[in-house]
Amino acid sequence: MKLLKKEFLFVAGGLLILSSCNQNNASETNAVVKEISPKQWIAPDTSSIPFTEEGNLIRYGRDLIVLTSHYLGPEGIISHTTNGMNCQNCHLNAGTKIFGNNYSAVASTYPKYRKRSGKIESIEDRVNDCMVRSLNGVALDSSNKEMRAIVQYIKWVGSEVKKDSTPNGAGIMKVPLLERAADAERGKIVFTQKCVSCHGADGQGKKDTAVNFYLYPPLWGTHSFNTGAGLLRLSNFAGFVKANMPFGTNYDEPKLSDEEAWDVAAYVNSQPRPLKKFSGDWPDVSKKPFDYPFSPYADTFSEKQHKFGPWQEIVSAQKKK
Ligand code: HEC
Ligand code: HEC
Repeated sequence: MKLLKKEFLFVAGGLLILSSCNQNNASETNAVVKEISPKQWIAPDTSSIPFTEEGNLIRYGRDLIVLTSHYLGPEGIISHTTNGMNCQNCHLNAGTKIFGNNYSAVASTYPKYRKRSGKIESIEDRVNDCMVRSLNGVALDSSNKEMRAIVQYIKWVGSEVKKDSTPNGAGIMKVPLLERAADAERGKIVFTQKCVSCHGADGQGKKDTAVNFYLYPPLWGTHSFNTGAGLLRLSNFAGFVKANMPFGTNYDEPKLSDEEAWDVAAYVNSQPRPLKKFSGDWPDVSKKPFDYPFSPYADTFSEKQHKFGPWQEIVSAQKKK
């Protein structure tokens, strides 16, 4: 493996950071970079938010994304309707980071049909999906001020994106499938080496109790996302951590190999978390993604194989249909 010293400029929210990193996974990294056109989406600058009533709503929406717990968490000043996590824990830099699960394509593609619900969903519906699953909380009414602020902010983030288009680096990165099943035992080793320092050996993260805010959010247990959340799918989890973890990592300088990303996903998603079933999900079971971990399925592969792989034969079978 070649060691390569690389300097790059990273532009985030109008902030210029010059960073210099040692990169020891050159071949794999190059493979990832090639798929992405060099012209990246950049979020509008927060200093451009006007000081008008609408601008204030956008700023409030951004605060709600960054400090969800302060407003809506277990001891929130507005309501106690979420689990103590912040939207930003999973939508990094307030939903503006390339492959940090950003919101660049939300305003341009919603309302849209979603296979999970089998319905056309508005931005409000999609926000509530995360509210009740990722934040294991209670849905907000669309006329609610907090919901209006969040939606206004998300629209502002995507305001320079053409209707119906999806910028490079939107959402979550795709990690190539492994030929073998993802392995929770190996994942435990990755977890111990590369995650425990922040998220803790018990996966419960670390809360600053004075401000009631997670410095490091929990990865499982009562205060984590529930079993209906997107991160429970190993492909989403692996893609999120490959491009973003350990915290400070960028998609073009990953610190985890593909195998490590899949294995740590298998380990974390084998731990207990709030069990929630959403009866309306996947009205057409044949539309379930290859790694959706709950039956019934339109094929004969087991829940275990859907959850952990190997996935290649599942994907091929889905393609044939
Ligand atoms: C535990 C992690 C987590 C938290 C916390 C979280 N989300 Fe999400 N969110 C996700 C994941 C993962 C996806 C993508 C899921 C998928 O594509 O299957 C997503 C998708 C979205 C989308 C759609 C993005 C797109 O491009 O289609 C929106 C909008 C969204 N979340 C808003 C929010 C808001 C607002 C909050 C806080 C109230 C929040 N999320 C909290 C994990 C999270
Ligand atoms: C240097 C500290 C640090 C390390 C090491 C680290 N994380 Fe994180 N992680 C964070 C922080 C901080 C956040 C929340 C980011 C934010 O709110 O801006 C986070 C968020 C997350 C999230 C989304 C939120 C949640 O709680 O579900 C996941 C998943 C995650 N980390 C997984 C991992 C995995 C897996 C590893 C090891 C490969 C890891 N992290 C290593 C600091 C760290």
